[in-house]
Amino acid sequence: MRKIKLKNIRADVLRSIGDVFPERLSRMTGENSYFRYVYSLLCDSSSFLEIGYRWGVFVNVCGILKVNSEHVDICDKRLRVKSNKNNKVITTPSIDYLTTCDKRFDLVFQDGSKDYQCRVEEYDLIIRNNLLKSNAIVIVDDLHYKGCKKAFNYAIDKYGFKSRTAKVTDKREKGYKMGFLYLSK
Ligand SMILES: C[S@@+](CC[C@H](N)C(=O)[O-])C[C@H]1O[C@@H](n2cnc3c(N)ncnc32)[C@H](O)[C@@H]1O
Repeated sequence: MRKIKLKNIRADVLRSIGDVFPERLSRMTGENSYFRYVYSLLCDSSSFLEIGYRWGVFVNVCGILKVNSEHVDICDKRLRVKSNKNNKVITTPSIDYLTTCDKRFDLVFQDGSKDYQCRVEEYDLIIRNNLLKSNAIVIVDDLHYKGCKKAFNYAIDKYGFKSRTAKVTDKREKGYKMGFLYLSK
């Protein structure tokens, strides 16, 4: 995987974020924001899985970019959004979803539970059920959480993922690290 080339965010995508998060628009779309990383990889993706979709920003973005996607969360009604034809929203724990999933993705955004055991099980199921296309990238959010970092290293050791990290902004003022896992060269 080459260095991730960050893209400019399209005006229609900016408008859709502004509708959901007017007060966070500038921070979310800053130069090195976590959003910009996910967006830039989404632009080159055709099948996306988001674990943890709260508020559905990426459901909207996938709709605009015409990326087929699935989004799973356990959030309460207030934070849910509706499915579109090519963007399916599922309310269930990630483990239940991954256990029965038979789709394959070229981009996965792991942004749900911060718990080590849950993240490890997510990796195990993603691999066991062959959910990654050969060129797939797994974006791993929240490496500043001990459990997320430990699970990220587990995935590298156990499954031979290659990895990168990037310092991103937005969710924490000071910035934090996001990880990227991939199996291809
Ligand atoms: C940080 S939010 C996701 C934000 C979203 N990805 C974005 O960038 O706008 C994390 C979400 O993960 C969900 N979550 C936590 N544990 C989960 C689990 N075991 N299965 C599915 N979703 C989970 C939470 O309900 C929460 O809505």
